[in-house]
Amino acid sequence: MLAREQIFENHPAPQKAREIATVITNEVGRKWGVINEIIELSQNEPLSKSSMLLRASLRVCAYLVYFERKNPYHLVNLIRNFILGKTREGLLKRLFFVLRKIEKFKGGSVKSFEDYAFWYQFFPRWAARKMVEEFGQEEALRLMEEMNKLPFMTVRANTKRITPEKLLFTFKEKYRFDGELVDYPFVKLAKVYPVMRTDEYEEGLFSIQDKNTAVGVLELVKLLPESSCVLDACAAPGRKSSLIAQERPDVELFCVDISRSRLDKLVREFERLKFERPLLVAADASLLPFKGGFDAVVADLPCSGSGTWGKHPERKWFTSSERYKECVLVQKKILGELSGFVKPSGYLLYSTCSIWREENEEMVDWFLGRYLGFKLLKMERIPPENASTGFFYAILQKL
Ligand SMILES: C[S@@+](CC[C@H](N)C(=O)[O-])C[C@H]1O[C@@H](n2cnc3c(N)ncnc32)[C@H](O)[C@@H]1O
Repeated sequence: MLAREQIFENHPAPQKAREIATVITNEVGRKWGVINEIIELSQNEPLSKSSMLLRASLRVCAYLVYFERKNPYHLVNLIRNFILGKTREGLLKRLFFVLRKIEKFKGGSVKSFEDYAFWYQFFPRWAARKMVEEFGQEEALRLMEEMNKLPFMTVRANTKRITPEKLLFTFKEKYRFDGELVDYPFVKLAKVYPVMRTDEYEEGLFSIQDKNTAVGVLELVKLLPESSCVLDACAAPGRKSSLIAQERPDVELFCVDISRSRLDKLVREFERLKFERPLLVAADASLLPFKGGFDAVVADLPCSGSGTWGKHPERKWFTSSERYKECVLVQKKILGELSGFVKPSGYLLYSTCSIWREENEEMVDWFLGRYLGFKLLKMERIPPENASTGFFYAILQKL
């Protein structure tokens, strides 16, 4: 994972400039669709008609002029002096012309909740509509507000090598990172610090993981008998499987993922943490090339990712209202296949980082209706808070 602070890590600009660039990049991503609409309404022309360079300059400057009330004249001069030089005078003139119009833009009209969600919460209208359908208007608004808060981060202490208390102490004393202890074995840091640049990360003393995404695995490991065999069917890059290895070193782990390059990341993560390498197979989990019965199967499946819009606010603009439907089809195929790999009395842990019911509660209902030999032990939806990941998990047991 690339921490936000690392986007400009190797840029020669001074630290302060890099921090400002990071904030601007985040905010342009969060408000992407709104910025595009402001530009198109102001210039009376689709953005696709502009060159790539003009589009990029327009988006950044439109954000600065409309949301930060910066002066178009100063901005264009800055770009002329420091970035483009005089050779792009035509582009700069056009930029200035549109920015002057944006300066006078009074805001979009709000005739519905979806318009409000678009102009003031920076959510695509389709997403606002779907959130209201699923949760009602009040909860939809609360979720949007939570996703728009500044993110904190959680890291997982590698408890085989350091306690969460010692890790927190080191962060505070050595790096001046502000934080606190939260649910074992996590440490919550007040903001997104460049933790990957610390010696302790290099030495494998912690992993970066949103604590919400660990809850299902932490519940599962409590149920596993001694020396269990566990199949993690969509395992890469290995956050959940490394948590199993950490909490239950007695477990024999079998990790599958369709992507070889992501499995390589899993291997590097296990090496960094100094954990024993699990058995690995690069394969499609909806058509596994082996047979077997496992004490537990972990199905942390590909999903629409709508629960990650707080951490990655730009993602909601680069997906569609139909995306979850494709995911539901894949999830059904994989779950169907995995149902045959759970031993009698064994467990199936299903999880997603989606907030949509179709990928969560409805998927569990579908599974229980179709594969009659399973019962539901536990199901939990963890909503996103302060831009944390919205997560869902269900633990089922084969009878
Ligand atoms: C949500 S991520 C898994 C994250 C992982 N469990 C963790 O905690 O780090 C979903 C993973 O499913 C993999 N995947 C997608 N389609 C798959 C398939 N048909 N079979 C196996 N893996 C698949 C992706 O490559 C991706 O690594």
